[in-house]
Amino acid sequence: MSQERVIVIDFGGQYNQLIARRVRECHVYSEVYPNTITMDQIREMQPDGIILTGGPNSAYKDDSPSISAELFELGIPILGICYGAQLMAHLLGGKVDTAPTSEYGRTNVSLSQASTIFKNVSSDTIAWMSHTDYIAEVPEGFIITATTKVCPVAGMSNASKKLYAVQFHPEVTHSVEGQKIIENFVYQVCGCKGDWKMSSFAKHTIDELKKKIGSGRVMCALSGGVDSSVAAVLLSKAVGKQLTCVFVDHGLLRKDEGDEVEAVFGPKGEYDLNFVRVNAGERFYAKLKGETDPEKKRKIIGEEFIRVFEETAKQIGAVDFLVQGTIYPDVIESGLGKSATIKSHHNVGGLPDHVDFKEIVEPLRLLFKDEVREVGRELGIPEYLVSRQPFPGPGLGVRIIGEVTPEKVRIVQEADAIYRGEIDAGIERWRKGELDGEIKGKPGKFHPIERKGRFPVWLPDQYFAAITNMQSVGVMGDFRTYDYAIALRAVHTSDFMTADAVHLPWEILDIVTNRIVNEVKGVNRVLYDCTSKPPGTIELE
Ligand code: XMP
Repeated sequence: MSQERVIVIDFGGQYNQLIARRVRECHVYSEVYPNTITMDQIREMQPDGIILTGGPNSAYKDDSPSISAELFELGIPILGICYGAQLMAHLLGGKVDTAPTSEYGRTNVSLSQASTIFKNVSSDTIAWMSHTDYIAEVPEGFIITATTKVCPVAGMSNASKKLYAVQFHPEVTHSVEGQKIIENFVYQVCGCKGDWKMSSFAKHTIDELKKKIGSGRVMCALSGGVDSSVAAVLLSKAVGKQLTCVFVDHGLLRKDEGDEVEAVFGPKGEYDLNFVRVNAGERFYAKLKGETDPEKKRKIIGEEFIRVFEETAKQIGAVDFLVQGTIYPDVIESGLGKSATIKSHHNVGGLPDHVDFKEIVEPLRLLFKDEVREVGRELGIPEYLVSRQPFPGPGLGVRIIGEVTPEKVRIVQEADAIYRGEIDAGIERWRKGELDGEIKGKPGKFHPIERKGRFPVWLPDQYFAAITNMQSVGVMGDFRTYDYAIALRAVHTSDFMTADAVHLPWEILDIVTNRIVNEVKGVNRVLYDCTSKPPGTIELE
């Protein structure tokens, strides 16, 4: 295959898929491979470059993940990041040791512009560090290309062998000029032109799906959200009428959402799909009754989902494959691999052990949210669907703290509809500068804009109301009330793995608060969630 590609070899770091995604942002295809990949496999693949990821181990220990030193003799450009850098130093005869001082977080790094990967990067830049070991001595033939106050080798290279290494993480956004460094590696060192597009991903995936599914029958779990919509359209392009899309209305959807989804994907909509809607709200409420533990709620909803599918599948007839729109952040945050379990995301950790399908197909498993949107655009899915804000699989179940009741569902649906409606209505005025802060651009994109005061202003990528489990005393008319508090959340994020609370104009918050307490029965207080992620998560449960 003549397609340009830079492969990523995984040594157990948290950011391995993020590195691949950064390379894809350079329009060069990238995939992550385990460190058990053999030299023959690499020779056969003929990648234009290789990136070695970070990882939690010490390169000099015998039981740490490693790779054959032959890798560095293949003549393929290599960039080692963090553990990958240390491993390169260790395997080539340098010295790696415990650092006298560990570095963690944003760090000032001095770079030598003589290094190709630092071309057009400021000589004093800020990069993200996270290490307890360090390179104490570089291998023969290498020069030091970057340092920090406490790290003598924050970068090294052997230009004649096209070997480069950095101790910091250029792939995370905290490394201010990190993407430029990755671009330099991909274009300047590996010599890639960058002609790969998401349309290639779509085409390749459709071909793979055709091969995998053959004449089998497929059922797609359609929620109407971006991920499952893109997955459904990919599948329908691959296998047409072999596909049945089942839309389970679990009674935890946003206000009027069930009907909206049916309008788009149902028989009167614009897609030619076998669409089946199952109204199962009562069933989910019954299962959730009395349950207050967030993880158990997620598991119950996930499991009930599968049960509903199994039953629907039986009515439809034999089904071989179940398609789900799982995307990469769902995978990592559910604690697959070696990362800690934060939440059991619906569709992954929430899956029951016993599933009555031959296989689960997840065509978007390696993509990040904005990449999924790009695939959607390439597939010609209308923009209003593609740019829709994400909605979690367990729906309002994770926006209702504590027990789920139909009453709480009604409250959060109404409050959320008011909140989203007012933001959508206010964003134009906000953008025009009529409200607090000055805004340019569209929601869902990066917009760092200096506000007159202290904070940069961002438009929200995700915003919703949640119902807290707190009731408090208020007064309405001359009467005492004891009602729920609604929490409003609005975050700016590029990959949903980290997020910042958005500084919404007070005027919008004021209108929303007034409307919610006046129009939504059962609410007497509205709170704004100012927490970033981490330490908070985007959803409340
Ligand atoms: P958290 O709350 O984990 O959310 O910070 C990150 C992003 O993921 C969405 N989310 C989910 N999406 N199934 C999904 O498909 C889930 O179980 C789930 N939980 C959270 C959340 O809305 C945010 O965009």
